[in-house]
Amino acid sequence: MSDLPDPDVLLDIALTIAREAGELLARGREGVVAAETTKSSPTDVVTALDRASEALVARQLDELRPGDGLLGEEGSDSAGSTGVRWIVDPLDGTVNFLYRLPNWAVSIAAEVAGEVVAGVVHAPALGTTYTATRGGGAFRDGVALSGSEVTTLGGALVATGFGYTVSRRTAQAAVLTRVVPRVRDIRRMGAASLDLCAAAGGIVDAYYERGLKPWDHAAGGLIAAEAGLRVGDLRGGPASEELTIAAPQALFGPLAALLAEHPAADRD
Ligand code: IPD
Ligand code: CA
Ligand code: CA
Ligand code: CA
Repeated sequence: MSDLPDPDVLLDIALTIAREAGELLARGREGVVAAETTKSSPTDVVTALDRASEALVARQLDELRPGDGLLGEEGSDSAGSTGVRWIVDPLDGTVNFLYRLPNWAVSIAAEVAGEVVAGVVHAPALGTTYTATRGGGAFRDGVALSGSEVTTLGGALVATGFGYTVSRRTAQAAVLTRVVPRVRDIRRMGAASLDLCAAAGGIVDAYYERGLKPWDHAAGGLIAAEAGLRVGDLRGGPASEELTIAAPQALFGPLAALLAEHPAADRD
């Protein structure tokens, strides 16, 4: 294994590549975009641009960081030989992208020795870029983020999202009917990476979702944590497919307790 690189160096690379991928997607969105439904369910759509974006990211990483590993939603999966692995959602918020809603992003995280140390969530149609390095803070377009100061669930605007299979959605809907009366309101904005960044920036007070994959939460999870939020699951573990919660310290416990009231309803 070669010398491990500085997180700031990895962040610069992630930023450069996220901007290039963002340009490709924004340009592509000017034309006709067709949805393919070959993924896990009819609601789980993918476009040729999801794949083109991942191919661009893979090509650029190979040029700038040969030998690094890469995990991407559209099929990239290599461990690499350098101790660095990139975790990439080449287009987070595909359904928004398809409908010309602006909430979509390129999400790129760099993991060193198994720990995410740098992350970028770049949202071209919003004109916004979120960044973080481990221990170096979180930023929106260069401005430091610190999350919400709301301390009660009743005063909390909570973002969430839904998976693609009917069984998961049925379970998530059941949980939601119990959460809605207990919080200020719910938002379903359609891109997990940006939901985590919204929580980091206090645009919402908290976020939770079941069923996220590493590419959904790797960069946004670091950004939320670096903004001072607690990011994890119900049992004190890290963000995972089972559950990802991002909330200010004072809200995390009450939100986790509320979600834990309905464990059976949220199983599939
Ligand atoms: C999806 C979005 C959505 C979330 C889903 C994700 P994709 O990612 O982030 O907000 O609710 O769980 O799968 O498929 O648009 O990259
Ligand atoms: Ca997808
Ligand atoms: Ca995603
Ligand atoms: Ca995606």
